[in-house]
Amino acid sequence: MIDHPRHVTVIGGGTMGCGIAGLMAVAGSAVTVIEVDRAAADRVAERVHREWADDAGALTRLDTITDVMRTPPETDLVIEAVAEDAGLKAEVLAAAGRAAPHAILATNTSSISISRLARAVHDPGRFLGLHFFNPVTKSALIEIVTGDRTAPQTVELARNWSERWQRTPIVVRDSPGFATSRLGVLLGLEAIRMVEEGVADPHDIDAAMVLGYRHPIGPLRLTDLVGLDVRLAIADYLSAELGDRFSPPRLLREKVGDGLLGRKTGQGFYSWTAKGRPS
Ligand SMILES: NC(=O)c1ccc[n+]([C@@H]2O[C@H](COP(=O)([O-])OP(=O)(O)OC[C@H]3O[C@@H](n4cnc5c(N)ncnc54)[C@H](O)[C@@H]3O)[C@@H](O)[C@H]2O)c1
Repeated sequence: MIDHPRHVTVIGGGTMGCGIAGLMAVAGSAVTVIEVDRAAADRVAERVHREWADDAGALTRLDTITDVMRTPPETDLVIEAVAEDAGLKAEVLAAAGRAAPHAILATNTSSISISRLARAVHDPGRFLGLHFFNPVTKSALIEIVTGDRTAPQTVELARNWSERWQRTPIVVRDSPGFATSRLGVLLGLEAIRMVEEGVADPHDIDAAMVLGYRHPIGPLRLTDLVGLDVRLAIADYLSAELGDRFSPPRLLREKVGDGLLGRKTGQGFYSWTAKGRPS
């Protein structure tokens, strides 16, 4: 058993990829981030350093490349964190698996079926979901999602590694939205419907959950942090898989169509400053 992945490859250098890359580096792994967009690739190191400023020493073991075909063959663990698109995920996982045939392959998908993505990889026994949360710096949970063919040894490795990453693992059988997105997205969608219907404004809806139900963050603020586009993609997938109760509200589609994606674009249900704080 590998007690600790010496080298980790993260595919996708966006919100989650940068957070996960920092966590891996801080835990002692050398890390390669693969980001296809040249401008985004150039920002990866700065983003990771900003998020993990207290552990800057560890971040010297981080490099960024742009081509998934060049996944380092010696890598022990590949974590895919590209957009929530099953075709794209299957494509990059297959390419990374060919380049690093001995690696454990993982996806950070929030909702897509692990068993379905497993069809794209050469060894489904070494493939699973490792669902990290946003922001990775502060989120204590890792949702380990097992596909039909994930081997028990792979789950065991993931449990051990989660503890090394100082995160608490839960193990969930592959089903649409797993445990977290299925519940969390439903609450977020209902909160958006309440804004749409004029029940209350976003601040007050969020305060209802934070003060009334002791949630650490309200569902609309969380939607802004996650990204409205990311939540829309998950809602579309879950409504196809689980039915109309996950149908995205009109307001969510409109905001995504207008490019109001939440914190990353400066405007969603809240306005955000350039430093990423709600204004
Ligand atoms: N945002 C969240 O709060 C959150 C939380 C948990 C899980 N997730 C999941 O994590 C995944 C990534 O979400 P995100 O919010 O980081 O998205 P994001 O849009 O911020 O980042 C995705 C990155 O992948 C890059 N990319 C696209 N195609 C690529 C390719 N072929 N090779 C390499 N890079 C490529 C994009 O250029 C982009 O920078 C999604 O599956 C999402 O559902 C997101």
